[in-house]
Amino acid sequence: MSEKDINKKAFDEGTLLKLKIFQECFREWFPVFLYTPGIERICIYDLFAGSGYDTEGNPGSPIILLEEARGNEYQHCSRLNQCKNLKVIFGFNEKNKKKATLLRENVERSQVSCKSKCPLRVEDCVMSRTAVASQTFDEITQSIRFNAFMQDEKTAKFLLLDQYGIKEITETVFLSLISCPKTDFIFFISSSTIRRFSNEPSIKKYFETEKIDFDNSKPKECHRLIADYYRSLIPHDKEYYLHSFTIKKDANFYGLIFGSSHSLGMEKFLKVCWKYDKYSGDSNCNLDEDHDFGILFEGSGTRHKIDAVKKEIREAVLSGTISSNKEGLLFALKKGCLPIVFVEVIQELKKNGEITISGIFNRQSTKIHQVPEYHITRP
Ligand SMILES: C[S@@+](CC[C@H](N)C(=O)[O-])C[C@H]1O[C@@H](n2cnc3c(N)ncnc32)[C@H](O)[C@@H]1O
Repeated sequence: MSEKDINKKAFDEGTLLKLKIFQECFREWFPVFLYTPGIERICIYDLFAGSGYDTEGNPGSPIILLEEARGNEYQHCSRLNQCKNLKVIFGFNEKNKKKATLLRENVERSQVSCKSKCPLRVEDCVMSRTAVASQTFDEITQSIRFNAFMQDEKTAKFLLLDQYGIKEITETVFLSLISCPKTDFIFFISSSTIRRFSNEPSIKKYFETEKIDFDNSKPKECHRLIADYYRSLIPHDKEYYLHSFTIKKDANFYGLIFGSSHSLGMEKFLKVCWKYDKYSGDSNCNLDEDHDFGILFEGSGTRHKIDAVKKEIREAVLSGTISSNKEGLLFALKKGCLPIVFVEVIQELKKNGEITISGIFNRQSTKIHQVPEYHITRP
């Protein structure tokens, strides 16, 4: 994850985990918009795309996105063949000209190989709308064409922003991203760098580091703090969801930050995060010290994060701050937990006679934007 060319060596363990999370995040996200009425276009942007592979032939993010978009049994291609009014467009960008040329070749090769195996045997491949640009991130994000797509209500956008270091997702870029309709994004950031050089002008140029309490926190918490920093930029009246995943490599902490304006987007991302961290859903390094490394049996640690969030939910329900299942499920989601934890708390409170339900009780904890609502009263 250093600034040396990532594609000129074998991807290390941290990079492979990052790519796995990108992949599974996209795998969850993409089908949602294949079946969302009113969507006419799906734009998949990888704006720091690299050249396509590492030196061992492991696919990088653009190739992963192309492969995922087909579906493991070409089911997504099949869906797109049926929906003539829905188009998928890939926008790959790589500043380095040589890498961009290599990427173009790799994308083409991947598409030729896919076509040769395609069970649908169609002339006009639904995944062929692919553009590889070689511009800077700034040039792309300031272009009229890009912004037209970003602002379009009928276009669903997935942005993968795998920058080197820390500089590209500025406050302005972040605020612009969160204001775009039907847009989810995931970006990488080297949080240790911000912590280590927090007093340097070269960092203060990008982050108001005096607002980040590095002094009273552990080094391993730095990526959570950076995510909080971005969270603090979100206007108070805006419904928005942000979650982070810390990736430790050697003594350094990097991480991913995912943003969505829709609870379903966040449900999907949290599902991936909790798959990779069964204790806190946000790191590969035991941030909450719930489990010893090397423990024999998975699940034998303590789930401090879940316990803490459940306690907060219980208190909020009993004080009346949470007064419906919808509020409770969203509360859990915003705390970085899967909404099922709310259901578990409510079942216990109900069993103990501490609350009563008005409306029809249900245990739904996914697709919470569509949950049949009930209200909670305290006797
Ligand atoms: C971390 S690598 C991306 C790796 C890629 N996601 C993969 O899986 O192989 C970052 C890439 O962004 C490119 N890059 C650096 N600064 C850029 C900028 N300002 N605009 C666009 N690309 C940039 C680099 O040349 C590098 O290939």
